[in-house]
Amino acid sequence: MERKIILENIEVEGIRSLEVYRKNGGYKSIEKALKTMTPDEVVNEVKTSGLRGRGGAGFPTGMKWSFIDKKSGNPRYLVCNGDESEPGTFKDRYLLMNIPHRLVEGMICSAYALGANTAYIYVRGEFKQVIGILNEAIKESYKAGLLGENILGSGYDLDLYVHTGAGAYICGEETALLESLEGKRGNPRLKPPFPAIKGLYGCPTVVNNVETLANIGWIVNNGGEEYAKIGIGRSTGTKLISACGNINNPGVYEIEMGLPVEEFIYSDKYCGGVKGGKELKAVIPGGSSVPILPKELILKTAGGEPRLMTYESLSEGGFITGSMLGSGGFIVYDEDACIVRNTYNFSRFYHHESCGQCSPCREGTSWMESVLHRIENGEGKMKDIDLLVSIASKIEGNTICPLGDAASWPVAAAIRHFRHEFEFHVLHPEIVKNVKHGSLEKYMEVPAVTGE
Ligand SMILES: Cc1cc2nc3c(=O)[nH]c(=O)nc-3n(C[C@H](O)[C@H](O)[C@H](O)COP(=O)(O)O)c2cc1C
Ligand code: SF4
Repeated sequence: MERKIILENIEVEGIRSLEVYRKNGGYKSIEKALKTMTPDEVVNEVKTSGLRGRGGAGFPTGMKWSFIDKKSGNPRYLVCNGDESEPGTFKDRYLLMNIPHRLVEGMICSAYALGANTAYIYVRGEFKQVIGILNEAIKESYKAGLLGENILGSGYDLDLYVHTGAGAYICGEETALLESLEGKRGNPRLKPPFPAIKGLYGCPTVVNNVETLANIGWIVNNGGEEYAKIGIGRSTGTKLISACGNINNPGVYEIEMGLPVEEFIYSDKYCGGVKGGKELKAVIPGGSSVPILPKELILKTAGGEPRLMTYESLSEGGFITGSMLGSGGFIVYDEDACIVRNTYNFSRFYHHESCGQCSPCREGTSWMESVLHRIENGEGKMKDIDLLVSIASKIEGNTICPLGDAASWPVAAAIRHFRHEFEFHVLHPEIVKNVKHGSLEKYMEVPAVTGE
């Protein structure tokens, strides 16, 4: 389970520079792809690898590439999504800060496979340091003939640009990102048409996550079959996980798909256990948008199987007893964490970040924030809990883009698994009002009662 693909050689001093990156095997895939493979052969290797998008949805990358419209005669574009604004997720910026050429290499192979001669990296505007590092890496690559005209004498041309956003979470949604890249307000588009048919400037476009594209060099070098041997079942390869919350070793880890969740939390190689020797209470395994799971369900599925770090295992049981691998933002809560406070916090975020185009999301996120605010502040009523469930269910599936779902799932899941904490807030306003930070657990020997 120690396999490194994306973060390989990250510990080597100076690996950020082209010179050191190349000395350590970097950019070999460019020679191979551009000089010995056809674009379709590269696409086929990616299909064989079983690589799935690392931006959250886990859509098979090779299949997405094969949807790109080749008949329109319009230019094709490759766009890398480096917006990474999901609370709890900080893996892409780590990769970009430390080993930027891994992405540039992957993007050259990917753009070649797609027949694109222009590619963009869309980065959240606040990541000033990352932007500087990326621009430097791109400059070095142009100078070395790895970008620009006739790359390494292969006859293939590619221009690569960094585009900075203005700090909106919604600009991570691929069609909002494309609007923003075109210089407009980042409002998600209605789909279909999908970007592979009508994307940037109305032309065929593939949008992929940073981590997804960073895998491509390895796949070209070693072949899709070798990649598919890593991991388990339909979750092939490795995954970057950004681990945070109440743990001893917060950070970014590259794990082989299939690692047991329990090992990830308790092993000193990874999270190193719950901070202060406290009990584990809950985990959000894939960024703030995915359902929270209590200790019993994050360590084992409802069927008693050990929960694994794979797309399939983490979603086992659907949203009743499961969650999602999502973007790999792994947030750990100890026994003292207040789930109501946490849910309220997230609801503020989603309300603030809703673009406002569709009523269920615009109005629903506002109502969820208000209702959670009064519960959190000891002013809630018992019927507010079911009101929240009802609002969440009316947003889900009824919006232009998945931000609506992302806003409703955390609320629905928190109530599904921790209803007693919401009830406690309603039943004991005097305690809730006086405990501003930290846990209510110690007061909770007072049993909560379901119902008005
Ligand atoms: C509100 C919202 C924010 C998103 N933010 C990101 C992001 O920051 N990075 C990302 O790669 N994907 C993000 N996505 C998913 C993208 O829409 C898209 O699915 C992804 O970039 C595709 O790349 P992949 O196939 O390589 O995963 C977001 C989606 C939504 C709905
Ligand atoms: S779901 Fe929300 S963020 Fe997405 S388009 Fe509708 S209003 Fe905008």
